[in-house]
Amino acid sequence: MISLFAEESIRTRFSFVLAAERLGMRVIGTENAARFSSFPSATQMLKEERLTHAITVLCEYGPDVIVLRHKREGAAKMAARVAGRYGIPVINAGDGAGQHPTQALLDLYAIRERFGRFEDLTVAIGGDLKYGRTAHSLVYLLAKFPGTRFTFISPRELSMKEEILQYLQRHKVPFQTETILKRAIREADVVYWTRIQRERLTDPALYERVRGIYRIELEHMRHLKKNAILLHPMPIGGGEIAAAVDRHPQALYFKQAGAGVFVRMALLCYIFGV
Ligand code: NCD
Repeated sequence: MISLFAEESIRTRFSFVLAAERLGMRVIGTENAARFSSFPSATQMLKEERLTHAITVLCEYGPDVIVLRHKREGAAKMAARVAGRYGIPVINAGDGAGQHPTQALLDLYAIRERFGRFEDLTVAIGGDLKYGRTAHSLVYLLAKFPGTRFTFISPRELSMKEEILQYLQRHKVPFQTETILKRAIREADVVYWTRIQRERLTDPALYERVRGIYRIELEHMRHLKKNAILLHPMPIGGGEIAAAVDRHPQALYFKQAGAGVFVRMALLCYIFGV
């Protein structure tokens, strides 16, 4: 497995590496592809052939799989097109403000652990829904199950990407937007909270304006349904969840993250037909 991370990561990177090693694979990788080589940075990526070249060379080395994280949306798809010619799969470990599909798989795992199903769930998703790629992938995945209903809550400037709202409309998946935290969470089976993606905001003042607007405090947990769960892809960033919530029995984000190794092992097995 070539693990190519051109953007910061601890959880995703470590859990991919652990997953591969537990399956007896060998891993080569870099945690900072953008710095340790002349690997195309986000701006250089405007010249698309640069990433294409880098991936082509890696494919010439003959790996079984490439795991890629990159700052630019669409990078994994582009890499997959190139590697596809070699029959080498590319796993998207996060592409800018685009998608983070393996995170969504482990989010689903946490949901099934609790509910034993994916159907008929009301899911409140809060935080940075514009740049938060984990939220995007989770919506796409959950929208495939009948009876899913979404409630979105975010600062106005960071509301859910238009293309995702259109996808939901096209597929007749009900959703609503909410501005009052208590109202957003009280009907939900799953509350999925996310960090403001500060590094992706083009206006730095925006972060100061919106941070902490939707902060889950211990007292909010009383409004959750008894069986509801609070998830977060981690890292919890600008105080969107108060530290006191960590020990609440319905806050399951540590267990959710822990399953990342097993879910990624399963994904690798699936890819290799094992
Ligand atoms: C997320 C990411 O990288 O998109 N982290 C992760 O992979 N678990 C969420 C985030 O950075 O906010």
